[in-house]
Amino acid sequence: MTLIIDTRTEPERALAAACETLAQGLPVAIPTETVYGLAADATNADAISRIYEMKGRPRFNPLICHVADFEMARHYVDFDPISLKLAQAFWPGPLTLVLPMRPQSDIHPLACAGLDTLGIRMPEGFSRSVIERYGKPLAAPSANTSGKISPTSAEHVAADLGDKLALILDAGPAEIGLESTIVKVDRDEIRLLRPGGLDVADIEKLTGRPVLRPQTAGAAIEAPGMLASHYAPAAAVRLNAADVRPGEVLIRFGGKTLPGEENAALVLDLSPSSNLREAAANLFAYMKKADAFGAATIAFGPIPNEGLGEAIIDRIARAAAPREGEQA
Ligand code: TXA
Ligand code: MG
Repeated sequence: MTLIIDTRTEPERALAAACETLAQGLPVAIPTETVYGLAADATNADAISRIYEMKGRPRFNPLICHVADFEMARHYVDFDPISLKLAQAFWPGPLTLVLPMRPQSDIHPLACAGLDTLGIRMPEGFSRSVIERYGKPLAAPSANTSGKISPTSAEHVAADLGDKLALILDAGPAEIGLESTIVKVDRDEIRLLRPGGLDVADIEKLTGRPVLRPQTAGAAIEAPGMLASHYAPAAAVRLNAADVRPGEVLIRFGGKTLPGEENAALVLDLSPSSNLREAAANLFAYMKKADAFGAATIAFGPIPNEGLGEAIIDRIARAAAPREGEQA
């Protein structure tokens, strides 16, 4: 039986149960501001193994390690000046930095897939309290079966991994709804490894430097998790649809209607008021809603390619990419 504890009504019980479960080397699903994570003690090989097993995740795909504060972060990684500036501005928050690991790091090599760098992030919200109380960094990928959509609620986690998990902490819907933005600073160049919940424009504004996109930086190879097909719902996905075909579920943006909409099985709007933050927060839940509806195909209306729109389009494009076992 999976125990689900609501952190809003029973925070103390949630913290105690999480720490006890983590100390046993078992993963716990924790709420972060981006998506729900499947967290385990980053220094414990058995615990990390269980994450890979539960998710069916390839072991060459490194995990992000989550810390409670700068002291913990500094114990594990070296900050270059630009990364430090980013961390000071945006932590706790939806930013992951890939940084060189320090010699005294006891992060288990399984967690970082044997790399000499660490993807590190200080999350916002209850997950940070868990790390603080536990006292050690937590490795946490999104709490979903590998290749599926990331969970933005405890219900999503329970539906996907519930039978395998001892404990889920429920803090309600994730505030941001998209995974963290991942960057790596390389000789004063800021490279984007994954667009996400932190707007790249905010990074550019703070540093006064351009952020290099994967195409220009070759970074897709550097973030091994960025396989083309990812974040996939069960339904097929049509990107940037100009019209709606009969029986499709339409997910649109900004109240913009599409021709053929009257024949849609269901119409969902990510943000009728054209707010990209609201759209990001709704994206994964709406894909799951479309799946639950039994849609064969989801058509996505156009999304503006600015601000968080970049990360939203990235996730929809991955959802639309050919799946494993399908012809490209
Ligand atoms: O918002 C998030 O980042 C969520 C929450 C739970 O924190 N976590 C998450 O983790 O999205 P995951 O495992 O689904 O994605 C981690 C990504 C992968 O694409 C992986 O390749 C990349 O981070 N990554 C981790 N460590 C890395 C490293 N040392 N170098 C390059 N990429 C790394
Ligand atoms: Mg993931």
